[in-house]
Amino acid sequence: MLHGSGLVVIEIEVNGQNRRLDVDDDTPLLWAVREELGLTGSKFGCGIGQCGACTMHLDGVAVRSCLVPAGAAQGRKVTTIEAVAADGHPLVQAWVAEGVPQCGYCQSGQIMSATALLARDPAPSEQSIRQAMSGNLCRCGSYPRILRAIRRVARGEDS
Ligand code: FES
Ligand code: FES
Repeated sequence: MLHGSGLVVIEIEVNGQNRRLDVDDDTPLLWAVREELGLTGSKFGCGIGQCGACTMHLDGVAVRSCLVPAGAAQGRKVTTIEAVAADGHPLVQAWVAEGVPQCGYCQSGQIMSATALLARDPAPSEQSIRQAMSGNLCRCGSYPRILRAIRRVARGEDS
C-alpha cells in the first residue's frame, strides 16, 4: 500500500509472525529485516548477490536478500537464521559438533542455504550438497567442516 514518496507498508510473515515494514519498496529485504525488525543475524557481505552472507528463505526458498526488493516480499513468508536457531534445527547442532565457525560472519547464510537444501531433499547426494553450497563464500575456509556438518544431518547421524 502506497503512503507517499515511495514509502509503502509491506505486510509479511517473518519467522511465523505477521509484521509490517514501512520502507521504500525497493529497499533490499536484508536492510528492511535488519533495520526495521532488528533481526541482525543475516549479514551484509557484498551487496551484489555474490557471497551468500545475507541468505534468507522466501517461501521456503533460499534467496540473496540483498538483491530482493522488500516490496517483492509483500504477502510472503520470510524465514531468517533467528528462527532456525530458536528451533534447535539439527543442522545447528551438527554445526556445533563439527566446530564449523571461525570468525562466524558467513555462517548464518551458510546455514540458511543448507536448511533450504535439506528441506527440499532430506538426503542429498554429495553433488547436490556441493552445488547447493557453492554460492556461499567463507573467507575463513570453513568449507570442509560445513560439508561434514551437512553430511552428518543428511545421514541422520547423532550430533
Ligand atoms: Fe547478499 Fe553478498 S550480501 S550475496
Ligand atoms: Fe569467517 Fe566464514 S567463518 S567468513
